[in-house]
Amino acid sequence: MPIKRICCIGAGYVGGPTCAVIAKKCPDIVVTVTDIMPAKIAEWNSDSLPIFEPGLEEIVFEIRGNNLFFTTDGPKAIREADLIFISVNTPTKAYGAEKGKAPDLSCVESAARLIGKNASGATIIVEKSTVPVRAAESIAAILSAECREDGTSFQVLSNPEFLSEGTAIQDLLSPDRVLIGCESSEAGKLARKELADIYTRWVPEERIVTSNIWSSELTKLINNAMLAQKITCINATSAICEKTGADVSEVAKAVGMDQRIGPAFLNCSIGFGGSCFHKDILSLVYLCKQLSLDEVADYWQMIVDLNELQRRRFCQRIVKSLYGNVAGKKLAIFGFAFKENTGDTRESSAIVVCKHLLNEQAQLAIYDPKVRESQIIRDLQSPGCEFNSSSLKIETCPYEATKGASAIVICTEWKAFKNLNYQKLYDSMESGARWIFDGRNILDHQKLMETGFQVHCVGKAL
Ligand code: NAD
Ligand code: UGA
Repeated sequence: MPIKRICCIGAGYVGGPTCAVIAKKCPDIVVTVTDIMPAKIAEWNSDSLPIFEPGLEEIVFEIRGNNLFFTTDGPKAIREADLIFISVNTPTKAYGAEKGKAPDLSCVESAARLIGKNASGATIIVEKSTVPVRAAESIAAILSAECREDGTSFQVLSNPEFLSEGTAIQDLLSPDRVLIGCESSEAGKLARKELADIYTRWVPEERIVTSNIWSSELTKLINNAMLAQKITCINATSAICEKTGADVSEVAKAVGMDQRIGPAFLNCSIGFGGSCFHKDILSLVYLCKQLSLDEVADYWQMIVDLNELQRRRFCQRIVKSLYGNVAGKKLAIFGFAFKENTGDTRESSAIVVCKHLLNEQAQLAIYDPKVRESQIIRDLQSPGCEFNSSSLKIETCPYEATKGASAIVICTEWKAFKNLNYQKLYDSMESGARWIFDGRNILDHQKLMETGFQVHCVGKAL
């Protein structure tokens, strides 16, 4: 039976855009997204969506109310659905045993319980969240333990999501591949086909890859770990460059021309951020330790450790350049999101940099084109960061942020930062040495030096 009604549990960065694209491409399927946060659902139903993602508003505003719905009534949406995506968050555990190490699967468990209690008839459950290997086994066990209704049956599939924030809609419309892990039974293969039939409405068949469920779950973790590893390779190279006179962009360019390596993900930075790389590597490390593969665990752990080092090196460089003291000095921070084209700040390297500078008693003026002021304040108010309200200003204009500042610190790779009038910025800064710390290597450093700036970037001595 072709799928007629889809429910998605979790209206976040994955659930929202994924369902918007499915609903757009399948007008005959009713897609309902549900969440436990009423405020978030209200935003999805308003003119101001809870997340910024290029191209998302256009789709949602076009089809919302036709075949795309957002609701807090999870039980009803589940009862009516033939196929249910679990797209809830799977962070690192922040409490109790294995705090800061193990993945926290409590949201997956509560979603599975909700499904078990409310589903009706033959239902396909799709694990979209990133989970440890064999999580589908636990989901299946919870579903059958909770299920009370005769005639209800479940098939659990793994269908990890590979979208990147900032390009989510493009990634969903044209994915490199769609991975579906299923049981080898006839029922498993049938469920796989029903899910694949949705994707083949717009994804070429040869890009739909099948595997067993455990391979699919592991693939997602390894995919993220390998991407993070590539960034870490180039960031580790930047540390060597800074001490030897080699130029990291020249190294990255030449290395990336080797087709076996490729040019993507070789942009040197102040360390990767985002909600997933860090937590997914920790999840992989935890898995390896559980399997007594300590050396393998150490290998993946090193990526997280080197990422911290990269952030630390950048912070130390700022303070050292400003004569070892930033207390009372105004610094303009350009960019707070973890990457460009998003308002998401989860695990953003900018948070680490700002906390470091606030603890050194600098006065920060932060400008980001998309991050909300309340979010920045929430991120910086966490434990381990000391500052009073006069030390922090959130600006809506980069020129305001820079007035009277001793330095500009680029934390996010927003393209708009390239097109600012740096002469005007220079003229408005505190007299004396005026610094730019380009943590993303996106600016024209030669031109900035000609303007009079003292320029520091990552991975090359200027
Ligand atoms: P998110 O925090 O933006 O959204 C998750 C949503 O699930 C939240 O709104 C939360 O309220 C809701 N939720 C939690 N428990 C619930 C329950 N029992 N019932 C209903 N709603 C519930 O998270 P996200 O960024 O969308 O990530 C979701 C999953 O997808 C994670 O496992 C993540 O690793 C993975 N993933 C994320 C990305 C990304 O770019 N953000 C990309 C690929 C995969
Ligand atoms: C990443 C993966 O790219 C997605 O495939 C995956 O689905 C997703 O994680 C997930 O599981 O959540 P995302 O975190 O949204 O996507 O963004 P990326 O483009 O991967 O960037 C991650 C971080 O690395 C950002 O801070 C970015 O600025 C940084 N980065 C990226 C670099 O420092 N250098 C690069 O060359 C590329």
